[in-house]
Amino acid sequence: MNSIQSQLFFLNRAPLKSEWGENIILIYDSFLDSTPYRQFIQKFPIRYKVTGGEQLKSIDALPGHLRKLSQLSSPLQSRDLTFVVLGGGSVGDFGAFVASIFKRGVRLVMIPSTWLAAIDSSHGGKTALNINGTKNQIGSFYPASEVYLFRDLLLDQPPRRVQEAFGEVVKMGLIAGGPLWKKISCLKNFDSKKLWLMLPQLIAEKYKIVKKDPFEKKGIRHVLNLGHSMGHVFEAALGQAHGIAVLNGLILSLWLSHRHGLLSTKDYQQILRSEAGLLFPANSEISKMLKKCQDIRYWLAQDKKMSTQGELRFVFLKKPGRPVVQKIKLEILLNDLGFFIQEFGKGQK
Ligand SMILES: NC(=O)c1ccc[n+]([C@@H]2O[C@H](COP(=O)([O-])OP(=O)(O)OC[C@H]3O[C@@H](n4cnc5c(N)ncnc54)[C@H](O)[C@@H]3O)[C@@H](O)[C@H]2O)c1
Ligand SMILES: [Zn+2]
Repeated sequence: MNSIQSQLFFLNRAPLKSEWGENIILIYDSFLDSTPYRQFIQKFPIRYKVTGGEQLKSIDALPGHLRKLSQLSSPLQSRDLTFVVLGGGSVGDFGAFVASIFKRGVRLVMIPSTWLAAIDSSHGGKTALNINGTKNQIGSFYPASEVYLFRDLLLDQPPRRVQEAFGEVVKMGLIAGGPLWKKISCLKNFDSKKLWLMLPQLIAEKYKIVKKDPFEKKGIRHVLNLGHSMGHVFEAALGQAHGIAVLNGLILSLWLSHRHGLLSTKDYQQILRSEAGLLFPANSEISKMLKKCQDIRYWLAQDKKMSTQGELRFVFLKKPGRPVVQKIKLEILLNDLGFFIQEFGKGQK
């Protein structure tokens, strides 16, 4: 396996295809065919087009994809096959998983096309597929040998994609604390240019944690799931985009951290009143969303971090820079969520 740290390239031009040898399959998001990046895509003689989104990560579709990729690879030399994966986090999770099992592992190069993928999912080697809508149940650790961060491609994204990155950016800031949180907490508005400038620091902070616990064996890497236990519920139950769901989950994690006496009122208020905090949806909005979620118990129980004793390893925050993993009984968490719905749902129909 490659080193957990991929080689990173921050580029102002499209990467050169010749950098990856002759035996390449490009796996890419079909969305990009309708963008100026089509020209870059066309340079690859062997291409595998996929539709980005959670459906791509469904385990049910895997055999079909593998058969087609196998056909495509037949004229190529399998000894030095390279998969170049161009797309957002779903294409990355899928493409990297396939690269990890294809011919027992082929060289993997990633070109993230969404902010979320550029900031987070392309780094650290986690690959993932879903089973029956439950996220990331199947996967491997398979870091890309190289990740190309291509400025124009990233800056050309519509505001929606920028918005989807906000949750993971705030998450990283709260986990890291210090200068990164200071910078993020002061962001009056959030745009692509600022994201590009912060990108190296955001990635470096993720690697600081990943390197201490590359295979998530020591519990250290688990802090990167801040906001994700509830985020995955919003994603599964309401079909929210990952980044949006994570922000909503993060807001609940902060509230729960305060409710359980881990995050002081002063620190909680400081986060909520920071420029970044002012961009959070209101608790009344989150309460409405929770109310709409069917089967919260079911989705939480699917969490990989759920113990047989009905406890969840939940990531709380003590202060910016001090995330902490603590067990919480599912019943207590559900009770807390019920209280949240009541408290902030007052006046709602
Ligand atoms: N492996 C990890 O460590 C890790 C970390 C975080 C998230 N994830 C996973 O990443 C996924 C979320 O990532 P995502 O938000 O990039 O999802 P995504 O891949 O579904 O992309 C979101 C949408 O953006 C479109 N898109 C792709 N490139 C675009 C571009 N340049 N401009 C405009 N639209 C574009 C896609 O077609 C899709 O409709 C989830 O499946 C999540 O579980 C993985
Ligand atoms: Zn995430």
